[in-house]
Amino acid sequence: MADGEGRLIERRKSDHIEICVKEDLGVGYSYWDDIRLVHNALPEVDLEDIDTSATLFGRELGAPIVISAITGGYGKAEEINRTLAAVAERFGLGMGVGSQRAALENPELACTYSVVKEFDIPLRIGNLGVPQLVEQGGRAALTVDDGRAAMDMVGAHILAIHLNYLQEVVQPEGDTRSKGGLKAIEKMSSALPVMAKETGAGMSRGVALRLKRAGVKGIDVGGLGGTSFSAVEYYRARSAGDSTRANIGETFWDWGVPTPVSVVLSSVGLPIVATGGVRSGLDVARAISIGASAAGLAGRLLPAALEGEDALSAEVGTIIQELKAAMFLVGAKDIEALSAANALVTGRSREWLDNVME
Ligand SMILES: Cc1cc2nc3c(=O)[nH]c(=O)nc-3n(C[C@H](O)[C@H](O)[C@H](O)COP(=O)(O)O)c2cc1C
Repeated sequence: MADGEGRLIERRKSDHIEICVKEDLGVGYSYWDDIRLVHNALPEVDLEDIDTSATLFGRELGAPIVISAITGGYGKAEEINRTLAAVAERFGLGMGVGSQRAALENPELACTYSVVKEFDIPLRIGNLGVPQLVEQGGRAALTVDDGRAAMDMVGAHILAIHLNYLQEVVQPEGDTRSKGGLKAIEKMSSALPVMAKETGAGMSRGVALRLKRAGVKGIDVGGLGGTSFSAVEYYRARSAGDSTRANIGETFWDWGVPTPVSVVLSSVGLPIVATGGVRSGLDVARAISIGASAAGLAGRLLPAALEGEDALSAEVGTIIQELKAAMFLVGAKDIEALSAANALVTGRSREWLDNVME
């Protein structure tokens, strides 16, 4: 990779963190509030006996929570990943790193990701993007060997292949060739354990089924309702004075399939991680009750992660207490019972599910 291009990617990564912390990226509607758990006035379980432990991809977690892919590949990322990893170890959570392409192209950056290996995290998730698995403007496609190297870099138990064409199409330097992406995922999945992961625009049933046939081991639905990369690109374009890009970012601000809808549509017999707009332990409980194996969080954790380990531990501790409270109030003593709890889908999410064709 040319030096200039490398600097551009590093700049973009640091812009993303800054914008996600400073700006309002919300879509103005809380799709998770559409999921209603039915109160059990006689829970017949003691709060202190509630067990939040869960299994994801054969790994034992202290709670069904994944710290979603956030960063890597630029200076400050090492410290952020260290903080995230320390808290993932403390609570026994899954953890993903950000796209590792930068370190495959510039090995000096590997330490900003591999820092997570210093921690005893029950489920470590590597990360590459599907746009980089096909050739883009003369740049060669990443191979199965690159996938293996990415996993080794972080001691990963599974490799997330992120699907982020919304971001690619709204950002100026985007990789917008997508032909051959599914074949490339199939090839990667035949050699390595792969999870397909959207990044904020969600999943339809048709895509979930194609991914299953391609051999992925699980799906992170990455749905609409939380961090919007279209909104992120709107802010980047605005500060660069690029009004065309800013308009495109604004137009596609709330593009995508809402996360709870994506969870229901993607129930095709694979483990599902419900990421996108998860704000609380109640949202985690809602996700499990509609079929997810775990919930993923990025944006909600980022401000505390920048503050440090104590702040992030307090944040995650609260989320787990809220999850326990929700389990208590529906009378679910463990995650299996929670997944069988009575949940209603209302509001716009109900409307989506009643009308979506695929
Ligand atoms: C600053 C930032 C950087 C991200 N970088 C990546 C990435 O490199 N790879 C990836 O798969 N997802 C990335 N994501 C997407 C998240 O993993 C997640 O899917 C998305 O933010 C939705 O979750 P949220 O609503 O809880 O933020 C990033 C998110 C944030 C906030």
